[in-house]
Parts: sequence; structure tokens; C-alpha cells
Amino acid sequence: MSEKCRSASAFACEVLSSPTSLAVALLLGAFIYLTLSDSGRNTLHFALSIMTNSHWQSPVSNPKGSTPGSFSLSRAYTSFIQYEHYAKAELDARRRLYKTLDRQGKRLGQQVGYLSKLDALARAVERNAVVTRAIAALAFEEQVRLGMVRGGMGRARAFGAESYADPGRVKEALKHFIRDWSAEGREERERLFSPILDVLKADTRTRKDLKVLVPGAGLGRLAWEIANLGFDSTANEYSCFMTLACRFLLSPKATTSAFQHTIHPFCHNFSHQKNLENTARQMRFPDVVPRAMSNLHLVEGDFLALSPVPTYDYVVTLFFIDTALSITDYLTQIYELLNPGGTWINLGPLLWTSGSVVKMELDLEEVLHLAKLVGFEILTQPAVNAPRTVESEYTGDAEGMMRWIYQAEFWVARKMNS
Ligand SMILES: C[S@@+](CC[C@H](N)C(=O)[O-])C[C@H]1O[C@@H](n2cnc3c(N)ncnc32)[C@H](O)[C@@H]1O
Repeated sequence: MSEKCRSASAFACEVLSSPTSLAVALLLGAFIYLTLSDSGRNTLHFALSIMTNSHWQSPVSNPKGSTPGSFSLSRAYTSFIQYEHYAKAELDARRRLYKTLDRQGKRLGQQVGYLSKLDALARAVERNAVVTRAIAALAFEEQVRLGMVRGGMGRARAFGAESYADPGRVKEALKHFIRDWSAEGREERERLFSPILDVLKADTRTRKDLKVLVPGAGLGRLAWEIANLGFDSTANEYSCFMTLACRFLLSPKATTSAFQHTIHPFCHNFSHQKNLENTARQMRFPDVVPRAMSNLHLVEGDFLALSPVPTYDYVVTLFFIDTALSITDYLTQIYELLNPGGTWINLGPLLWTSGSVVKMELDLEEVLHLAKLVGFEILTQPAVNAPRTVESEYTGDAEGMMRWIYQAEFWVARKMNS
């Protein structure tokens, strides 16, 4: 199931992960680097210069706790590089289960083509792994450039004491490439982005002077669209699964042309599938080649760690506020980050995904009440601001037999003077 960014399957995979994964990942990383041709290494070095340009700021320090380990660089690196291993292990487990069928069951299974389907999906995984390894190679190379990786021990230090892979988050990242950066994702994007972009477009002030923050920016398409409108746009994201994938897209060497990369985003799904053609279908990305722009900034780290001083004219939260462990902290932080009279645009569900550690799981009425208590006024005029429900999928499989439709809520709120 692909709803939102955190999945139960990711948790299960984490629990099942091998404790030797760090060593394997580091060896694989070293192997990739050492076996690259000169031009390959140059490619990586060039990519690094992009990663470290002024628009990529260092992870912000986090007074309330650093980027959680489950989203860390070492976890993401390990997971991208080991994706193929884990995804194939899942297919092998299915093969083993098939073998436990009785003779007739195996014969019938063979006749419907189950084993050849598993082979086809293994080939799809291999093609996905071309992308995941390239993402990991960029991350590894950055560590080399930063001098974090010098020898055997240095390699380990570079990636911390990481020992788990999280293939579930890699699968989610693959689907996000499609949602954010493919032609297939356009419908979903248009549904969700248009209400937000319409509010911004209606602003008659000089766009380049207006600062927009997009916390929890995922793979950054919305922030990029906002920058393309001429605003000064900042994407903030703390998951290295997302930021490494973003870097891969923005690197002018890793991503040189539209539709360059091919993935099979649904090849891990066995439920709600009509046929192999749909399950294993390939998609290409990016539909447009994103490039670093002077008015697009990417700030890696926890949104709550951003210095709470009035800086932004807009804060745009898309499928974000329900990631909060403390919704009061989130809304207060949005308020603090906005300039006087600044605008908060929200679109998303209330899927409190952090489970038992969430301090308050509010309903819509309570969230809106809280927003007022924090100091926001919910706007109803002009029409682009009108609160409304927006039906949409999220990284949905258009060819699947099940649709998960969110009744996402849209509102625009103004920061009232304190
Ligand atoms: C549900 S996803 C939405 C991504 C993006 N807004 C979209 O609509 O595609 C939520 C994102 O918020 C990020 N996130 C969650 N908590 C965060 C925090 N405290 N600071 C920065 N990013 C955070 C997650 O890593 C994830 O990428």
C-alpha cells in the first residue's frame, strides 16, 4: 500500500534487516567507486559540485533532536544500495512459498505463469536498482569529497553506526519520482498543486521579493513549481531518502535529459493487480529536467529546527501537518516563521502517521480551532482562498484494482498580529 510516506511494510522490512548490512553497503559503495571509469568519477565529482552549491544548505542543527535515525544519511544510503538485495529476497521468499504447494498446486501455478511472473518482476527490480545504486553512488561520493571517507574505518565513520536497510522507504521514494516528476503523475499533481498555485498566482506583489517555504517538500516538485512562478522558494525536508533522490534529479550529470530514467514503481505490489503488464509497467522520469535555480533553495533538516524568526511571506504545507508529533509545535512554528500578515496555505489529510508517539491526534475542527488560538485567521475570500475538500490519490496506481482516495482539506490562513 502506498499511502503517504511511511508504511507498515517499511517497518517490517526494517525489523527483518540483516545486522551486517552496513558492512555490505560500505563494501558495495567502495566497490562502485573504485570500479568507476575516470569519466564516471568525473561525473560524480561534478555532481558533487552541484550538491554543494549555495542552494544546498547544510542540514540545520536541531535543538529538539536531530534528523531521526530512520531518515538518516547512513540509513538512506544503506537502503538505496541494498534495495536490489532486499527486493529480490522478497521474491525469493515467494518462490519458496510456491514450492510448499502440493504437486497439483505447483503444476497449476506453473500453468498460470506465476514463476515466470516472479522472474519478470526480478528483472524489473534490477532495472530499478540501476537508479537506486546511482542515487547511493552520489551520496557516497559526497562523503569522499567531504573527506569523511578515507580508509576502512573512515568509511564506517562516514555513515555512522548504521546497520539497517529500509527497502520500504526506497520503494516509496521510487513512487515519489512518479508522483512528482513523471507524465503519469501529472493528474495527481494538478489536483493537489493547482489550489495552492492559484493562491500564489493571485498575489499581485512582485514575486521575486516574496519568500515561500515548503516544509516536508518530498521530492520537491511543488517547491520547484513555485520557484518557476518567480517566487523565492525554499524546500525543507528531513528525510535523506527524499533529499538524496532530489540531489540525483538536480545533478546535471546524473540527470541530463527528460525521461532519461526508467523505473517500475509498482513491481513490488501483489495485491490489487490486474495483470503482469500493469504490475511490471515501466515509467520514465523526469518529465522536465529540474535544475538548480537562484530562487530555489533546499534546506535539509527538521522543520522544527528552522530558526523561528519571521522570514517567509507564505508557508505551504502539502500532506505535511499530520506528520507532526506535536501539532501545536508545528502550527506555532508556521506562525513564527511567517512575516506579519503572512499566509499559510494547507492542503492534506489528517492521517496521524506517527502512531502512539503523537502527542495529540486532532480532528479537522480541532486543528482549525487550534490554528485560530495560535493566531491565524482562516480566509474565505476571494474564491481562490475558499476552504474546500480536494479529492485525490497519493502515489496511486492508476491501473490497480483499489483506489485510496483522500478527502484532503484545503485552507488559507493569515497570520494575525500577535
Ligand atoms: C507525506 S510526505 C509529503 C511530501 C510532499 N509534501 C508531497 O506532498 O509530496 C511528508 C514529508 O514530510 C517530511 N517530514 C516529516 N516531518 C518533517 C519535519 N519535521 N521536517 C522536515 N520534513 C519532514 C517527510 O520526510 C516526508 O517527505
